[in-house]
Amino acid sequence: MRMQNSIGLVTAAASGMGRAGAVRFAKEGAAVAIVDIDAKGVEDAVEAIKAAGGKAIGITGDLTDDRFSKEIVAETVRTFGGLDFVWAHAGHPGPSALEGMDMALFDLAVDLNLRSMTLTTGAALPEMRKRGKGSILYTSSTSGVRGSPHSPIYSAMKFGVIGFARSLAKRVAHENIRSNVICPGGVDTPMLRTFLARPDDKKKSAVPMNDLLEDRARRSPMGRTCQPEEIANAALFLLSDEASYVSGAVLVVDGAMVA
Ligand SMILES: NC(=O)c1ccc[n+]([C@@H]2O[C@H](COP(=O)([O-])OP(=O)(O)OC[C@H]3O[C@@H](n4cnc5c(N)ncnc54)[C@H](O)[C@@H]3O)[C@@H](O)[C@H]2O)c1
Repeated sequence: MRMQNSIGLVTAAASGMGRAGAVRFAKEGAAVAIVDIDAKGVEDAVEAIKAAGGKAIGITGDLTDDRFSKEIVAETVRTFGGLDFVWAHAGHPGPSALEGMDMALFDLAVDLNLRSMTLTTGAALPEMRKRGKGSILYTSSTSGVRGSPHSPIYSAMKFGVIGFARSLAKRVAHENIRSNVICPGGVDTPMLRTFLARPDDKKKSAVPMNDLLEDRARRSPMGRTCQPEEIANAALFLLSDEASYVSGAVLVVDGAMVA
């Protein structure tokens, strides 16, 4: 097992890549805290892990709440006795429009892409120091390594995630704490659908969702859309001890889209 006796938490883990990761980490021997605002989704993910013989707890709450973003660390430590890894996966597409931008949506995107993960990191570092090591993974995007005409705001935030993670990597390397970034391209989750049909993107919202999804898959060099489990596999490597000398890395997992 690749994560035996490891303890970690995953945010936005009731769905998509976060859930796929949490399930995978638990199969590899980790005890995992599933953090998400979706109570039913959290319950389902915890049940799925337990049914497969793994260890998991659910922590339900809103990551735009500063207190909650810190408390998830304390709750994980209270339950499992420590913290070895964090996948700060939560994020939000934010508004597509620049003219007449919805600032509430802008703020939500800042909170979920940047603010929450910063607070969680601040709470996690002292716990990792106690263990003498730690691994943190942040979710950026291909929009974090190249400009996105449809999502300049999202792109700015995902570039920011990389700036934070790489800076942190240098700051805590001497403490044996690693910080890496994963940059998915389009992945088959509910969020991809949100991206493809944002209400402020009038041209796209007139096209049926299935057509948008098929078009997206066709435009991928591999001719298909990435599955959440394929991101989970890459996350497993970066979070596990197999990546013991990998820090400050930005792993693009996009089937050669930005190549
Ligand atoms: N899906 C993609 O194509 C894609 C591509 C690149 C990067 N990403 C990034 O991946 C991450 C999430 O992606 P996904 O596709 O796995 O998502 P998803 O749509 O499958 O799940 C998102 C989860 O976030 C939870 N959530 C939403 N608001 C929350 C809040 N305030 N507090 C706590 N939880 C909340 C939802 O309940 C849901 O379970 C984001 O950081 C996103 O920017 C996604």
